[in-house]
Amino acid sequence: MDRMLSSSGLVCPSVRRVPPFLYILLGIFLFIVVVTTPRQTVDLSNAGKIGDDPRAKTWKPVVVPTFEPKVEPPKIEVVPETPVPKKAWDTLDGIGYAFEKINTKWTKTSPCDSVFEGIDIVPMANLHETKWTILPTCKEENIMVTLGIGHDTMAEEKLNITLPNTKFFGADPIIEPNRQLYTAFGKYFPFAIGKKPGFTKCRVLPNQNQKTRKYEFQDVTTIPFTYFLSDILGLKQIDIAWIDIEGGEFEFLDQLHRGGPMDKKGIVICQFNLEVHSKFHPPGAQVFHDFVFKVLDDKRYVFLKPAATDVGVHRMFFINLENEQCVRKFLQ
Ligand SMILES: *[C@@H]1O[C@H](CO)[C@@H](O)[C@H](O)[C@H]1NC(C)=O
Repeated sequence: MDRMLSSSGLVCPSVRRVPPFLYILLGIFLFIVVVTTPRQTVDLSNAGKIGDDPRAKTWKPVVVPTFEPKVEPPKIEVVPETPVPKKAWDTLDGIGYAFEKINTKWTKTSPCDSVFEGIDIVPMANLHETKWTILPTCKEENIMVTLGIGHDTMAEEKLNITLPNTKFFGADPIIEPNRQLYTAFGKYFPFAIGKKPGFTKCRVLPNQNQKTRKYEFQDVTTIPFTYFLSDILGLKQIDIAWIDIEGGEFEFLDQLHRGGPMDKKGIVICQFNLEVHSKFHPPGAQVFHDFVFKVLDDKRYVFLKPAATDVGVHRMFFINLENEQCVRKFLQ
């Protein structure tokens, strides 16, 4: 008790010695200081006078900072020791982004593939790649959709012969020769497939580049993925889909997930071949990664035959193990 009194006793007597009017004076002084000090805030009191200014019509009612820094920040010259190589994330040059190397680790899936030993996964060779197909176990009509024809319908023609009762629907923004090739066995649609309707730059193979197979970026009309399948084609079940659209796939891959737009429209895909082109859309590498993990999470599709065909280009074959009609038609 004694100690507490003495320690507080150091402060209290000195407080008592200050006459109260000094506090009042100090208060007034602080008030004056606060009121008269110029503030670094926006003065809106002139806002009403803007109308007097001839420029008023072009003025927007935005807050104009009244205090511009007068002193420019010192310029720091950065001299790179070696010239920084141009990272071609802008892939509109048609060359594509140079990923470091082909990632082949994940292509060693033979232990998993052996689960499907009893199922005949038939190759349908195109000029430039192989599409995989599980043939139906019944004689029903089949629906086949090609997104991205790419001047090459060899695989479709094989399928047309193997499964004569198949309806083919193909979309590609480059009309000739795709229209001519595809109408030999199916219905051709002259647009690109994407997420939103629009007019965007897409990587396409122009007719005059058939020999060189040099893809270019061109403005093309884009039709939404689910709108095409559901509203234009009126489909509920697509037995076989081949998707190879040179980077446009990242727009709608997530629509295939559980509870997504495809589910909401009640459209099912039983099996599909997908080619993924991060090379021509580098941010797509992340989209593809997320897609694969969500597919695993959903437990709707299994994917087989993964192939790394080029740096930043991947292929795989997806089988729907969930939908009863699909399972009955292709796996039982
Ligand atoms: C596709 O199949 C149909 C029916 O079997 C046949 O008439 C047609 O000639 C085929 N087309 C091609 C290009 O193979």
